[in-house]
Amino acid sequence: MSDVTTSVDVRVPLRTAYNQWTQFESFPEFMSGVIAVRQVDDRHTHWVTEIAGARREFDAEIVEQLPDERVAWRSTDGDVRHFGQVTFQPLGDGATRVTVDLAWEPEGLLEKAGGALGADRLQIKADLERFRRFIESRGTETGQWRGRVPEPPAAVAGEEPLAGTVPPPTGAQTPAEKDRSDKDVVDVLVAQHEQVKELMARTAAAEGYEKQQLFAELVDLLKTHELGEQRVVHPVIRSSTEAGAATANARLGEEHRADQLIAEVQTMIANSREFDTWFEQLQHAVLDHAAHEESEEFPKLRREMSPARLRTMAEELVAVQTAKN
Ligand SMILES: [Fe+2]
Ligand SMILES: [Fe+2]
Repeated sequence: MSDVTTSVDVRVPLRTAYNQWTQFESFPEFMSGVIAVRQVDDRHTHWVTEIAGARREFDAEIVEQLPDERVAWRSTDGDVRHFGQVTFQPLGDGATRVTVDLAWEPEGLLEKAGGALGADRLQIKADLERFRRFIESRGTETGQWRGRVPEPPAAVAGEEPLAGTVPPPTGAQTPAEKDRSDKDVVDVLVAQHEQVKELMARTAAAEGYEKQQLFAELVDLLKTHELGEQRVVHPVIRSSTEAGAATANARLGEEHRADQLIAEVQTMIANSREFDTWFEQLQHAVLDHAAHEESEEFPKLRREMSPARLRTMAEELVAVQTAKN
C-alpha cells in the first residue's frame, strides 16, 4: 500500500479552496495521474487514472464531507483500492493550508518501484503545486457543493433541512444489505482490542525466536488497528462530537507515545532483560490507551452518532485496514 501525505499553502480563502475540492470533475486539471472523474451523484464518482502507464477505472464514494474542513473518499469497486482525503486549515490573511492524504494499492512493478523511490510523493507534491497555480490564477472556484456527508441528524420538526443535504436512503433493504454484519464500529474496535491484549500476553510469556515472531505480529496488528482509528474514528470524533477535538488529540498523543515505545523495543533482542522492561512499558501504554478509548471515545460515538452511521464506519474501518495489508 502506498500512503502519501503532503500539503500546500494557497493564497485563496479557505471557503474557495474547499469549494474547488468538492468539484471532482475538475481534478484532472491539476492531478496528473487522473484522466477523468465523473460525478454520478452527490456521494458517488467514477474515476479513470493512469499511473506509471497503467490505466485503471474504479468507482468511489464520498465517505465524509464536512464543509470547509474535510472531504474523504474511497474506492468501492473496480481494479484499484484507493483512499483519499483532503483537509483545510485557515492560515490567516486569506490563505489556506491544503493537506492531501492518499493511500492506494500499487499493482505493477513500475508503480511498486515508484512507491519505493518516493516518486508517488513527488508526483502528489507536483499535483498540489498545480492546484495552487490553478486556484490562485482563477482566484475563485469553478463550482461548489456545500452539503454534508454523512447527512446531519434528521431535522427537528419545524426546521428546514440544510440545502444540499444528501437525502436519507429509502425503500426496502437489498439482499446485500440484509447479509451485511450488524456489527458497528465500536464492536469491531473492541474485538480488535481483545486480539491485541491476547497477543501482548502471548508475547510476554514466549521465549527466544517465538517471542521475536510474536512481537513482529503484534506490531503489525497494532499499526493496522491504529491506522483504522486515525483514518476513520478520530476524525469523526474531532468534527462531529461535542468537545471531540480534545478527545481526539489526547488519543493521538497516546498513539504517538506507543509508536515511540514500539520503535525502541524494535531495536532490542527479544530475549534480553532490556526488552522485557521496555515491552512492559509498551504493554501499560497500550492497555491504558485502550481503556481510555473504551471509557471515553467509544461511548461518545455510541451517544452521538446514529446506529446506521456507526455501521458504515465499521465498513470504512475494515476497508482502510484491509487496504493496508
Ligand atoms: Fe487507538
Ligand atoms: Fe484502539
